Amino acid sequence: MSVFLYTLLLTFQRHAKAEKPLCRMMGDPKYPLLSKDGEVTIGALFSVHSIESLPSFEFTQKPLLLSCSSVSLRDFRMAQTMIFAIEEINRNESLLPNVSIGYQIYDTCGSRLSSMSATMALMNGPEFTAENRCNGQSPIHAIIGETESSATVILSRTTGPFKIPVISPSATCECLSNRKEYPSFFRTIASDYHQSRALAYIVKHFGWTWVGAVNTDNDYGNNGMAIFLNTAQEEGICVEYSVKFYRTEPEKLQNVVDIIKKGTAKVIVAFLTSSEMYNLLEQLSIQNITDLQMIGVEGWITAKSLIIPNSFRVLGGSLGFAVRKIDIGGFADYVIKAFWETAFPCSQTEGNFSQYALSCNKYQDLLALKNYNEDVPEQRYSSNVYKAVYAVAHSLHSLLKCKEQAGCEKGLTIQPQQVVEALKRVNFTVKMGDRVWFDSTGSAVAQYEVVNWQQDSDGSVQFKPVGYYDASLPPHQRFVLNTENIIWAGGQLEKPRSVCSESCPPGTRKAAQKGRPVCCYDCIPCADGEISNETGHF
Ligand SMILES: *[C@@H]1O[C@H](CO)[C@@H](O)[C@H](O)[C@H]1NC(C)=O
Ligand SMILES: *[C@@H]1O[C@H](CO)[C@@H](O)[C@H](O)[C@H]1NC(C)=O
Ligand SMILES: *[C@@H]1O[C@H](CO)[C@@H](O)[C@H](O)[C@H]1NC(C)=O
Ligand SMILES: *[C@@H]1O[C@H](CO)[C@@H](O)[C@H](O)[C@H]1NC(C)=O
Ligand SMILES: *[C@@H]1O[C@H](CO)[C@@H](O)[C@H](O)[C@H]1NC(C)=O
Ligand SMILES: *[C@@H]1O[C@H](CO)[C@@H](O)[C@H](O)[C@H]1NC(C)=O
Repeated sequence: MSVFLYTLLLTFQRHAKAEKPLCRMMGDPKYPLLSKDGEVTIGALFSVHSIESLPSFEFTQKPLLLSCSSVSLRDFRMAQTMIFAIEEINRNESLLPNVSIGYQIYDTCGSRLSSMSATMALMNGPEFTAENRCNGQSPIHAIIGETESSATVILSRTTGPFKIPVISPSATCECLSNRKEYPSFFRTIASDYHQSRALAYIVKHFGWTWVGAVNTDNDYGNNGMAIFLNTAQEEGICVEYSVKFYRTEPEKLQNVVDIIKKGTAKVIVAFLTSSEMYNLLEQLSIQNITDLQMIGVEGWITAKSLIIPNSFRVLGGSLGFAVRKIDIGGFADYVIKAFWETAFPCSQTEGNFSQYALSCNKYQDLLALKNYNEDVPEQRYSSNVYKAVYAVAHSLHSLLKCKEQAGCEKGLTIQPQQVVEALKRVNFTVKMGDRVWFDSTGSAVAQYEVVNWQQDSDGSVQFKPVGYYDASLPPHQRFVLNTENIIWAGGQLEKPRSVCSESCPPGTRKAAQKGRPVCCYDCIPCADGEISNETGHF
């Protein structure tokens, strides 16, 4: 990582000394996974693959290129959605008429190293030639990505000094709302500020005053959990324990599982990504811990990867907030046909395989997805990518002074900072009917579906909508739950209870337990001359 930053710094120092310095590429150039030229260009970083294998460093020759494996269908669909939206806009004669949008989509393979070099490549252009001098002008007008919060923090910090707008479709960390630190950051998803608070409201709504809390130990989980814990305290909810782990820490996970096992809370608030939830699910399943009511976040609540044999025993009845599913008209057809014919670089493999085999090597595992689109209706983040592309297009449309009849003033040079300012002003409706605009922190308005893990008659797991949370509505209409349709922990029909101490019966009163949360108390008989004829709050 630091090597790339150093390269960049060096570039600036030279820039300061000589008037027209030559830029020299220090490492191998990094090429986009999918790209197309255009008069304006949108860059993107998606984790199309999720595992990167480092070459062995023998220090006797230049290290081989990193190789990526394990396709992430979610991110691949995001890349496809981006191209779909761009092609749609390029065909549209009223939005950016006569201006073609190009794209450069890089695969980060879920790795910080790859992500950083892709960011550098996007900012500088992948190739340096003698004629290509450092003119300080990024060839990219905006970057769409990343998908995870921590990676987005790094991306926004790196591009920040150059004022290049970054629009994430799925990074929800409240930390990214800080306008001072991330002045060019936008997202077509809401900040977790709302989700964390809504988690506390859901817990309170069901009368659970005694909960356990577990989160992913990264920006997403730590920030989200901190806001939940604050709200829980305000709402009078007691937290028995708050523990965390990261996917690469099996011993910490063991510790978390032990604490959950020893705890008495029947409700667990899980601010996890799907990776950590998968690890936790495995352990709870092995240890037969199945009677917990899980309350979850958009990071895992609708993750198909969690539907494995026996997972319903552990996660059945889970309740949580999900990004709304929105059908992008025409996209499901696009991913099985037009994409492979127009946008995929190795379409020609059929018939003349050997010729393309070498250069198309990195596309082989993606080719296996040809003709498959069953997951498309379940993809919840694709519509956010679609909205992000349109937001950039609307910004450029106004900056290039486009008119439907006269076309656009193509000669204008657009500075990244202008795109940032234009993005702050966008306010339009996409064809699915949603309005797109960014609040003062650069985020979209919070609109979630509340979903419940239920089982169909054939045993398949379904994420059934049982309510919604919509922060754009007046306060008393924001949160709606259809309680009668909910299935509870382990597939039960009865709502579980989770309190530290049962209410005190008439004739007794609460006595605080030293050193324990306020929700834990003993019931002691009333003193002479006092009465309590009601159950509860005395
Ligand atoms: C073209 O874009 C405009 C502005 O977003 C939209 O109103 C219109 O419906 C689009 N036309 C087509 C054919 O998609
Ligand atoms: C898990 O729990 C179920 C029901 O309580 C029980 O029937 C089963 O034997 C347990 N399995 C293990 C491995 O402990
Ligand atoms: C495959 O490519 C080779 C080399 O370009 C060419 O000579 C050959 O005709 C091609 N075969 C087919 C079936 O297109
Ligand atoms: C777009 O460009 C084409 C070819 O350069 C020209 O014929 C057409 O009139 C232009 N349309 C607009 C709306 O500028
Ligand atoms: C966007 O437009 C809608 C409807 O025209 C309006 O209610 C909303 O306040 C606007 N938002 C911004 C940020 O201008
Ligand atoms: C308890 O006593 C108070 C005062 O006498 C009375 O107002 C109230 O209705 C009683 N509550 C019950 C549940 O009996």
